[in-house]
This record gives sequence, C-alpha cells and structure tokens, in this order.
Amino acid sequence: MSEVAKLELDGTVYEFPVITGSENEKAIDISKLRGNSGYITIDPGFKNTGSCVSEITFLDGEQGILRYRGYSIEDLANKASFLEVCYLLIFGELPNKSELAKFEATIRKYTLVNEEMKDIIDGFPKNAHPMGILSSLTSALTAFNPKPLNVESDEQVYEAVCKTLAKFLVLSSWVHRKREGFPLNYYDNSKGYVENFLRMMFAIPTEEYKADPVIVDALDKLLILHADHEQNCSTSTVRVVGSSHAGLFASISAGVSALWGPLHGGANQAVIEMLEAIKADGGDVEKFIAKAKDKDDPFRLMGFGHRVYKNFDPRAKIIKKAADDVLNSLGVNDPVLDIAKTLEKAALEDEYFKARNLYPNVDFYSGIIYRALGIPTEMFTVMFAIGRLPGWIAQWLEMRKNGEPIGRPRQVYTGSNLRDFKDIASR
Ligand code: SDX
Repeated sequence: MSEVAKLELDGTVYEFPVITGSENEKAIDISKLRGNSGYITIDPGFKNTGSCVSEITFLDGEQGILRYRGYSIEDLANKASFLEVCYLLIFGELPNKSELAKFEATIRKYTLVNEEMKDIIDGFPKNAHPMGILSSLTSALTAFNPKPLNVESDEQVYEAVCKTLAKFLVLSSWVHRKREGFPLNYYDNSKGYVENFLRMMFAIPTEEYKADPVIVDALDKLLILHADHEQNCSTSTVRVVGSSHAGLFASISAGVSALWGPLHGGANQAVIEMLEAIKADGGDVEKFIAKAKDKDDPFRLMGFGHRVYKNFDPRAKIIKKAADDVLNSLGVNDPVLDIAKTLEKAALEDEYFKARNLYPNVDFYSGIIYRALGIPTEMFTVMFAIGRLPGWIAQWLEMRKNGEPIGRPRQVYTGSNLRDFKDIASR
C-alpha cells in the first residue's frame, strides 16, 4: 500500500501521494493540490519545496554526505580527475579509458574560440567584474552556435557538451587576461584540461610557462568539489531558464549570474575580503563574530552556514586539508589561513552558531587555495563557475530529457483590490 498524505481543508480531507527517493527521502506530491482544493502552498526560498526528482547528486545535510551519481565526494576528490567527474555527472557513469580518451579528444575539437568573441570582450571596461563578463560571453556563444540543440540526439548532445566545456574554459581565462591587459592565450591541445586553464591564465609570450603539478592537482581537486550540488540557487536557475526551452548557453549564462551573488558562489570572494578586513583590523575574530550575531548589523560570517548542510560541509573538510597541503607544498605562508582557522574554531564554540548549525561551507577555505595558486580574488567565483559547469550541464539535460514543464510558480496576491481609474486631473 503506497503512503499518502492527508490534508483537511474547509472540512474536506484531501489525499496526496508520498514519493520516496532511493535514499528514503520523502516528498508529498502536491501537483493536484490547486485543481482539487483551490489552495496552493507558499514557501519563500523553497526551503521545504522540491522542484524535481533527480538522479545526479545526493546530499544529506544532517550527516554531511555528498555523492555524485552514487560515488562519495571523498572518493572522487581523491581518486578521480575533473574530466572523469564531468563525464560521470553528465552521462551517469565513470568513463573507461577509451571513453575518457574520446571525451578529451572531442573537447579538443572545440578549444578554438571564434575570434569575433574578442570584439565583445574588448567592449568591457577593464574594471568590469569577471562574472558579469563571463555571463555575457557565455550568452554570446549562442550567436556563434545558433542551431537549437536536439536533446533527443545523443550525438548532438555529446558534441554540445564537449563544445561547452571547451569554450567556457577558454573564455574564463580570457576574462582574467583582459583585466590584466595581457594578450589572450589559446588552448594547447597537447596539454590537459586543467593544465591548459593555468597556462591560458598565466603564460606570457616572453617566457616559457610550465604548470606546477602541485597546482594542477590542487585545482583539479577544487573543480571536482564544486562540480554539482543538487538544486542550489544557480542550478535551479539553469533548470528554470532551460525549462522554457532556452538554449544551453543562455541557461548557463543565467546560472553564472545567479552564482555571482555573495550569498551563493560570490561568497568565496567575500570570505577573503572578510579575512583581509579582520587582518587589517588587528585579527580580532571575536569582534567580527559579535558583528555576525548582531541582528542590527547586516554583516554575516561569509563562508559559514548552508541551506542544506546542518553539519560540516564535506567539501569544506577536504578543502581545509588541501589548503594546508598546498600552502606547505608551495612554501606559501598566508596569514589569513591562520585567521580563518581561528575564526572557524571560535565560531564553532559559540552558542549562536551551534544553535543554528552554522558550519564552514565550501567557500570558507577555497579562496585561500585559489590565492596561493596565484588566482586574483575577483576571479574566485569564476573558478567556482568552471567547477560547477558540468553540474549545470547535467542538470539542464536531465530536466530537458525528463520533458519537465516550464517552471512557473504561483503566488498569493496581497495588493490593492479592484479600484476605479482616476484621470490625472483628479489625482
Ligand atoms: C554556496 O545551496 C547550495 O548548495 C549552495 C552551495 C553550492 O555548492 O551550490 O553549497 C554554494 O552557496 C554556499 C553558501 C555560500 N554563502 C555564504 O557563505 C554566505 C553566508 N551564509 C549565509 O548567508 C547563509 O548561511 C546561506 C545563504 C548560505 C543560507 O541561508 P538560509 O538557509 O536562508 O538560512 P537563513 O538565512 O534563514 O539563516 C538561518 C539563521 C538566521 O538567524 P535567525 O534569523 O534564525 O536568528 O542563521 C543565521 C541567520 O541570520 N545565519 C547567519 C549566517 N548564516 C545564517 N548568521 C551569521 N553568519 C552567517 N553566515
């Protein structure tokens, strides 16, 4: 006998089916609620509302569990490459050797970006935020690839996936180069995906560039840790935009914009700015913890708290260890790492944070590593976007292949009731 939920409204009892996920998550299917009762539900921020069923990523916020297609984030971060994880998220299985070789070879088919893209990037002022430029360039890709994607064609989907992974990486590096006034670099098809990003970011024509394997490995792991996170703000945005059958590039462009916000992916930049402010202020973490607790102060402890995790964000644990390893390996001594650790310890011992289950999230330590890798602070959220790209693609494809309806929520109107029009003379 399948489980049902009963709801009594105005003396009438309505029954709604309960669905159970593969990890025993329960949801009440209210798709017939309005038709049967005239009522809708309301849930600002969708804190209690599921938008879809999905086979891609599983989170358990209470246990601090994160899995991509059933594989633990710990295993993937320590044993897989970022491109293997891209393949896993998008196509559902880890690739074998020949599948991975074909995937990398197909990505290399699309690593040359249309030269006219440079005219678009030249139109931006030097101080434009990288995320604003990247969102625009991603949307502009539609202009150079106008043919709508037939999601029923596996071959077209495969090519579109590889093209997106290739072009987005090159454009991300161009955003940095433009801001620095350096010549734009091209992808080198003889080198790996992550190594190429570093080369396109930092190689200058006057010197030979050799990517440090420690940095390549650290970046590869960081990208894996950011690759997907079920229905977060930017992924939900990609799904909703895609639900109108807008193209993949347009949907991803919208996801970049959503990720930019300091409450979401923009937090990694905000964390470093916060840690720098604490350092400049003399390192008094208690003062900033008090500000974070003060309801009259808009200041929040950036990199802390999470909509789903009410335990440690498993990614934060891995990144915290990686920060120690990478900085030690590179011989970097960054005082903000010590401030971050002191801040974390103090916050985790504070009743306000404990009572609200506020723990460090993925953004708390990531910026410290990015900085040690030589990546400028304003590029940190672009790094998050590069990591999240395969998740956005996978979720967009799942939404389209499932034939999901256009995302169009209802509302409760609380404005003026009907009133007569007044001529301007009588207003
Ligand atoms: C990401 O969703 C995802 O999966 C996102 C992400 C992904 O991989 O896609 O994990 C990436 O976005 C991580 C989050 C990065 N953002 C930050 O680090 C910004 C700082 N954190 C917050 O603003 C906040 O914690 C959110 C936005 C992350 C979550 O907000 P919620 O779930 O809406 O929680 P809330 O704002 O309702 O807070 C609950 C309580 C409130 O206090 P009370 O009203 O109960 O007294 O906790 C307080 C909040 O004031 N609170 C904080 C706080 N975060 C929450 N107080 C101080 N500092 C904070 N950081």
